[in-house]
Amino acid sequence: MEEILLKIAADACERAYAPYSQFRVGAAIQTETGEIFSGCNIENASYGLTVCAERVALWKAVSEGFHGFSVIAIVTEGVQPVPPCGACCQVLVEFNPEIKIISATLEGKQVTWKLSELFPIPFRK
Ligand code: THU
Repeated sequence: MEEILLKIAADACERAYAPYSQFRVGAAIQTETGEIFSGCNIENASYGLTVCAERVALWKAVSEGFHGFSVIAIVTEGVQPVPPCGACCQVLVEFNPEIKIISATLEGKQVTWKLSELFPIPFRK
């Protein structure tokens, strides 16, 4: 199942719109009931409007009515697997502080974390 999620994230990575950074990222988030939503980073000439792949995937899922997530896969073109950025960690915490994060490169290097390991003290109201 994780292989499928990584493949969907890798396919999303190919669709990234990253003309400014040239760093393409794909993500695929899976719900507790098995639905999968993909996302890619989408950059903008007004750089601050760029949205990360993880948040695009999450926004798609939430906007379709899903709130319970078990795992998110991230695939980049980088040399090493990357963790989600701080903003994405904060957004993911909202829905599952223990979500499993599988990050891989297109070449197949892979790392797994729990969000609570990367982001142990999130802001919460
Ligand atoms: N990016 C992501 O899509 N996810 C991350 O977790 C980190 C960074 C994107 C944002 C920008 O388009 C590019 O990678 C370089 O920072």
